[in-house]
Amino acid sequence: AIREITAWEGLDSRGKPTVGCEVLLDGGARGQAYVPSGASTGRHEARELRDGGTRYAGQGVRRAVSNAVTVLAEAVRGVDALDLRAVDAALRATDATPHLGTVGANAVLAVSVATALAAADAQRIPLYRLVAAAGDAPLLPLPMVNIISGGAHAGRSIDVQDFLAVPVGARSFAEAIEYSARVRRGTAEVLAEQGHSTALVADEGGLGPALPTNRGALDVLVAGIERAGLQPGSDIGIAVDVAATQFLAQDGHYVLAAEGNRRLSAAELVEELAGWCEQYPIISLEDALGEDDWVGWAQATERLGHRQLLGDDFFVTDAERLRRGIRDKAANAVLVKPNQTGTLSDAHTVVRLAHDNGYRTVLSARSGETEDAWLADLALGWRTGQIKVGSTMRSERTAKWNRLLQIEAQLGPDIEYAGAAGISAGSS
Ligand code: PGA
Ligand code: ZN
Repeated sequence: AIREITAWEGLDSRGKPTVGCEVLLDGGARGQAYVPSGASTGRHEARELRDGGTRYAGQGVRRAVSNAVTVLAEAVRGVDALDLRAVDAALRATDATPHLGTVGANAVLAVSVATALAAADAQRIPLYRLVAAAGDAPLLPLPMVNIISGGAHAGRSIDVQDFLAVPVGARSFAEAIEYSARVRRGTAEVLAEQGHSTALVADEGGLGPALPTNRGALDVLVAGIERAGLQPGSDIGIAVDVAATQFLAQDGHYVLAAEGNRRLSAAELVEELAGWCEQYPIISLEDALGEDDWVGWAQATERLGHRQLLGDDFFVTDAERLRRGIRDKAANAVLVKPNQTGTLSDAHTVVRLAHDNGYRTVLSARSGETEDAWLADLALGWRTGQIKVGSTMRSERTAKWNRLLQIEAQLGPDIEYAGAAGISAGSS
């Protein structure tokens, strides 16, 4: 049972405060976790509690830390840590608001994850075994790797947020990471030849060139794949996180600032993206439309749904929103970010709901991350089939890749790798 909770204010990869937490169980087992934080957050996400005032420009988390060791600690003291659903239900019951804004989703998730890690420690099993549904073997996910960043992650050098490599042709997780690192290097070479600076990296470790058009990023990426000696399409598919809400204007138009404020209606944006899909080997489109454009999403899914259409800010890891999406035939995949909902149990519920309805799942880090690797274990144990944690550099990114590389190396043929099937089918 949970005996004691300690918490403190630490820093995330952007140098912003974040909640750190350690849970101690009777018997001496322990778990420790930090929580991540987004920059292009969805309107319907669970709420982080920030202090305001002048410390850390208002971004301090001392109130969240205080809630973790008082309200939340009292709620779970004596609860069996092995019963994660009971722990998470007790945590959620401390906050009557729908988005955990009173106690703080950052405090809640820190306790939820640290408790799960303590329970795994008590059982002397890795976290991925603890979180797996009974009878489920772990599944190594297909990685989706950031190569070029724009939007809120790179000073809005271009409007679209993420251009990613999906190494569908690799036969193992290790080979997938090697392919991805090669693509990043090849793309950097191509950009350098065009006179772009490649020394600085964006929030997720990707390149952040100021290109004249969004489509230009796709040309550079395809050239980078070829420079790496790989085949666009068969070796490396392309994923795009449009993060469209970020450039949606009040009047309902999408405004591409990098292209001289070109204005597109929702239908025109879908046609623009359809044009990209015809010209480039795009296999996944994330947040292709605004977070509340249910009609546009359903139309986009009808038009482009033979590709993965992934809802991030659209679903915000929320079971109710995903249910509506399933009913409306909007999107066909869900991005899962535990801090969008607040507890591990609720995130797991979304994964299962998705798989039960033929929706694919991509477990995802945030643009503000930490040195923790627990996300990798969740992807394995929950069999999400895909994972997105940023580029092949910056330690907060490599912590997750390295954890998966370690597990593949240690388990060898005893662990299944999703490979291209991770994106071509729900994998539960
Ligand atoms: P965020 O970005 O963490 O800034 O929200 C990640 C994403 O949009 O996928
Ligand atoms: Zn996104």
